[in-house]
Amino acid sequence: MGWAVYNEPRTKNRPVARQPVHLTAIYPGSFDPATNGHLDVIERGSKLAGRLIVAVLRNESKQPLFSTAERMEMLAEVVRPFPNVEVASFDGLLVDFASQCQASLILRGIRAISDYEGELQMALMNRRLRPEIETVFLMAGEQYSFVSSRLVKEIFRLGGDVSGLVPPAVACRLRERMASV
Ligand code: PNS
Repeated sequence: MGWAVYNEPRTKNRPVARQPVHLTAIYPGSFDPATNGHLDVIERGSKLAGRLIVAVLRNESKQPLFSTAERMEMLAEVVRPFPNVEVASFDGLLVDFASQCQASLILRGIRAISDYEGELQMALMNRRLRPEIETVFLMAGEQYSFVSSRLVKEIFRLGGDVSGLVPPAVACRLRERMASV
């Protein structure tokens, strides 16, 4: 299997799970905007793979609140504490992009059983397209089980408090965006 080569643990005083350095994983999504639930999955994923690519879907035709460049900027700030995590964007088929990046894993976060059906369908379709790429579901912390980008935008638009739901960099951008609407 070739699992013998590992990264050195990053933290000296705290036990850190060692991740196989050769393994590249991709964490795709719209991230419009990234939430603390996404961040939780990124942190977990960064411990599983030597290299984790957070891949933002270029879906400007769907009129996202933030442009691809803005979503990538916010994510770049959010992933700064994780040296093996990078941010990219893609369009076209996810599995083709994953293959271009030589990623062997696709990570997706599952919050509740209601996420499972759609995710299963996508994972099986991706497997049919490229059987060599495996999808792995990660459970975000239960404190994020009700957090979604859609609800964050709605709450913010209606004047609700989103602190604790999104990283500070995202809260700041939301404030700027709503002030300019
Ligand atoms: O954050 P989202 O919106 O749930 O992410 C969905 C995403 C980006 C993972 C999905 O829409 C996707 O993979 N789009 C790329 C096009 C593609 O590969 N479609 C076939 C999926 S089976």
